[in-house]
Amino acid sequence: MKNIVLTGFMASGKTETSKDLSRITSFKLVDTDDMIVKREGKSINEIFSENGEEYFRKAESEIIKEVSGFKNSVISTGGGVVLNKENIENLRVNSIIFCLSPSFDVIKERMEEAAKSRPLMKNAGIDEIYQRFLQRQPYYDNCDYKIDITSVHTPLMIAKRIWEIYKEV
Ligand code: S3P
Repeated sequence: MKNIVLTGFMASGKTETSKDLSRITSFKLVDTDDMIVKREGKSINEIFSENGEEYFRKAESEIIKEVSGFKNSVISTGGGVVLNKENIENLRVNSIIFCLSPSFDVIKERMEEAAKSRPLMKNAGIDEIYQRFLQRQPYYDNCDYKIDITSVHTPLMIAKRIWEIYKEV
């Protein structure tokens, strides 16, 4: 069966939702950031500070090519995967792409905790993060289904919603 791919801005809940989805579906759980960290032997923060963002994006695209060949998997992606159109084209071959689409208020609530492990949030002020959020929206539109998220939605609720849509396709 086709994979379920989750895209969306940093802290939109992809990781937690993918865990619930994997439990519900019995699909294999795949996290592209985790794969990069394992392969590089360092954290995302370290990759950004030691090798730079461009290096990270190349590593990310390699991993995307790899997971695009998978089947029966829930694939949680990094928030910047959408920036390279080829990543989405590759993923689309074997996957249905769901974009988690929270209001910025939801991101704001999670920001303090989220910034610790996210270089693009760590040294950025709220205005800069909001500008990035706005600038990314057209890229996030490149998906099969957009899932609106507010602070009342739990990852489990979102996972169930995605599974319902997936089963109907
Ligand atoms: C990034 C998002 C991160 C991670 C890296 C860059 C981005 O993943 O891939 O810090 O450019 O949006 P999450 O979306 O899981 O935070």
